[in-house]
Amino acid sequence: MHAVVMEKLQVENGSIFQITDMGCSIGPNTFISVKNIVESVELKFKLMNTQEKHIQVLFNDHAYNDFNTLFASLPSDKSYYAHAAIGSFYDRVFPDKSIHIVNCSYGLHFLSRVPNNVENRESVAWNKGKVYYSHSKEEVISEYSKQYEKDMECFLNARAQEVVPGGLVFITVPARPNGTPHSKVIYNMLADILGSCFLHLVKQGDIEEEEVDSFNIPVYITSPIEVEEAIKRNGSFSIEKLEILSKETSPINGLTAKDASVHIRAITEGLIEEKFGTKILDKLFQLHEQKLEDAYLDLISGEAISLFIALKRKTNL
Ligand SMILES: C[S@@+](CC[C@H](N)C(=O)[O-])C[C@H]1O[C@@H](n2cnc3c(N)ncnc32)[C@H](O)[C@@H]1O
Repeated sequence: MHAVVMEKLQVENGSIFQITDMGCSIGPNTFISVKNIVESVELKFKLMNTQEKHIQVLFNDHAYNDFNTLFASLPSDKSYYAHAAIGSFYDRVFPDKSIHIVNCSYGLHFLSRVPNNVENRESVAWNKGKVYYSHSKEEVISEYSKQYEKDMECFLNARAQEVVPGGLVFITVPARPNGTPHSKVIYNMLADILGSCFLHLVKQGDIEEEEVDSFNIPVYITSPIEVEEAIKRNGSFSIEKLEILSKETSPINGLTAKDASVHIRAITEGLIEEKFGTKILDKLFQLHEQKLEDAYLDLISGEAISLFIALKRKTNL
């Protein structure tokens, strides 16, 4: 990130420099990303002897994100003005050409919606008996992958209009190595095990089978090649960097089954609550933790990488 800011950022005249962290959640990770970006930008200003600039950071997430918690823990020594920017990053959030740097860390694996047809009983892509796509039939995987393509196009189109020419977009996402089947990705294996816990609750009479058939988790794990294709198809950005940050060989980076289950709970709890209420949550995740312990050897064979992509808004469009 630092190297890209130093080498690629084109600084223009103007007294306000705007950075946004999209999908910021409630901290503290967002403060770490923002601090890194702000420090690089300030160094670049200093080396270029630019006119004095005010840095504004716009923390973006859905309206239901707990912005009170976020703003209550803003670093006291920050050198920027902090604001909230509400709305889905798949839509327009900012005015034309108003943003200089966008960061989006661990947000773009959340799809904007459950893909078409996977909850439609009449469709060949009906995801019966499952709550996620990775271990499902090809038709279901294909609907998820199409939704990912559409969402990436919406994200890139919106940013293409909001980011100044020469401005930067940083994306970090969990991913799967090129060619790895979705079913062999650790995050997906964790989610599939959660699916089997739902079926267990059906057998025990806690929930109805139809409820499971009409519930799906809108998350998709991309690959380097898919991200690259989406960016090239969109055409508004040049790829300055596309690198694999880490290859995780342990199930979830040496976490215990409990930690892993808590992690999946954090991602899915809101969605599950919306569909099933709160009553099944504790039982579901106790079961999940148990099943993760039993599946340890399987999980260890799974793959997971994180991808970092740095984009620059083309100036000649
Ligand atoms: C896993 S958290 C990542 C938080 C932080 N960026 C980090 O790196 O730790 C994902 C965040 O993205 C947000 N998010 C998901 N989809 C979004 C969307 N379409 N628009 C804005 N925020 C979204 C979620 O609400 C959540 O706060």
